[in-house]
Amino acid sequence: MLPHRSDFPDNFLFGAATSAYQIEGHAKGGAGRTHWDDFAATPGNVAGAENGSVACGHLDRWAEDLDLVRDAGFDVYRFSTSWARVLPEGRGTPNTEGLDFYDKLVDGMLERGIKPAATLYHWELPAPLADLGGWRNRDIAGWFADFTEIIMSRIGDRVWSAAPINEPWCVSWLSHFEGHHAPGLRDIRATARAMHHVLLAHGRATEVMRGLGMSNLGAVCNMEYATPVDDSLAAQKAATVQDAIYNRFFLSGITKGTYPTEVLEGIEPHLPAGWQDDFATITTPIDWIGVNYYTRKIYGPADEPSAPWPATREHDGPLPKTAMGWEIYPNGLAHFLQMVPDYTGDLPIYVTENGMAGLVERDNDPTDDPDRIAYLRDHIHVVQAAIANGMPVKGYFTWSLLDNYEWALGYAPRFGLVHVDFETLNRTPKASYDALRKALTRP
Ligand code: FCB
Repeated sequence: MLPHRSDFPDNFLFGAATSAYQIEGHAKGGAGRTHWDDFAATPGNVAGAENGSVACGHLDRWAEDLDLVRDAGFDVYRFSTSWARVLPEGRGTPNTEGLDFYDKLVDGMLERGIKPAATLYHWELPAPLADLGGWRNRDIAGWFADFTEIIMSRIGDRVWSAAPINEPWCVSWLSHFEGHHAPGLRDIRATARAMHHVLLAHGRATEVMRGLGMSNLGAVCNMEYATPVDDSLAAQKAATVQDAIYNRFFLSGITKGTYPTEVLEGIEPHLPAGWQDDFATITTPIDWIGVNYYTRKIYGPADEPSAPWPATREHDGPLPKTAMGWEIYPNGLAHFLQMVPDYTGDLPIYVTENGMAGLVERDNDPTDDPDRIAYLRDHIHVVQAAIANGMPVKGYFTWSLLDNYEWALGYAPRFGLVHVDFETLNRTPKASYDALRKALTRP
């Protein structure tokens, strides 16, 4: 059984999250090409070379999807705006159809009594900007500020909250160092620049939104608990450096205007000249912090003694895993809800993503998902405990409302509370949706 809404403070918010490219259907509505279309079209990058052209067809089915959000009893819906749908070339002339779409989507939420929580960028960089170096190019901060101005001049008066960038670690490290996401680079210099520029863009966009008179502006970071593979000093060092890269670099940049020394050790020679001067912009105040949490990782030192920084290696863990191969480890969330206030003080914390993938759920019934209910229950309990310990956790969002395009893994991992048949695009609520609906019922 999931804890009931009444077990939480009155103003605690429950939400569901999605993102534009993963659900909308990018081929429709005049959106421009993105680096994800190109990444997926390159052999070996994405399972089955699948892309977001059709996805969940949300562009046409948004009203039905918002009904699902409302009927589950969610207070907030976290969605993202596609840069390439608003500005097909990344800059220049906006696509009126794209602006109109987000306008009616936001109105649709308000009509249903749902608070709109906007994320400006959830990874679909317009291809013409990728041509110019994308996140490696310092100018991206200005391009992103201009996009922010255009979209928020249209919807900023009605959104409940806004965050510029989803998961800076994925935008920079996963995509430029590990090469697992677009643009698929494995290059330390590109990584260092992307890590810094993504924060500069965050700061510029936040300033733009303040200038428009908006409030309730935040930042959304993903975090993964880093566990040493054994109790050797080398393993502890490996876990610490990965913790710094993953969990502390972005948080520290935004809130303290510093980068952890364990990360500077590797990237400082590759950062753009004068990077320290950008902290004035990067630390522009935020109103809340979002934590996306799924799992932990286990680290030891790299096998070859000559391996370059960060010289770590991932190990397989013993805990039960989701269909992503991710260990289920709710204690990691407990750790972060305790640790984040060291950086953000009393600022409200929202768990902006948490959830799990099943592959087919139960073979004969794709809506029977007891594992997801257990996963949600265990993580929501952690949130309750954090609140009881005095942590300022103010909301919890499930990833995701719908089964959707899971990036490099295509459509196989199913994260939805609602099953999507990718042939017919029919939606069917799963058992987890019903469990949440019961838990969120108001007395
Ligand atoms: C997060 C992403 C989201 C989804 C989940 C599973 O890192 O923000 O788009 O892919 O993981």
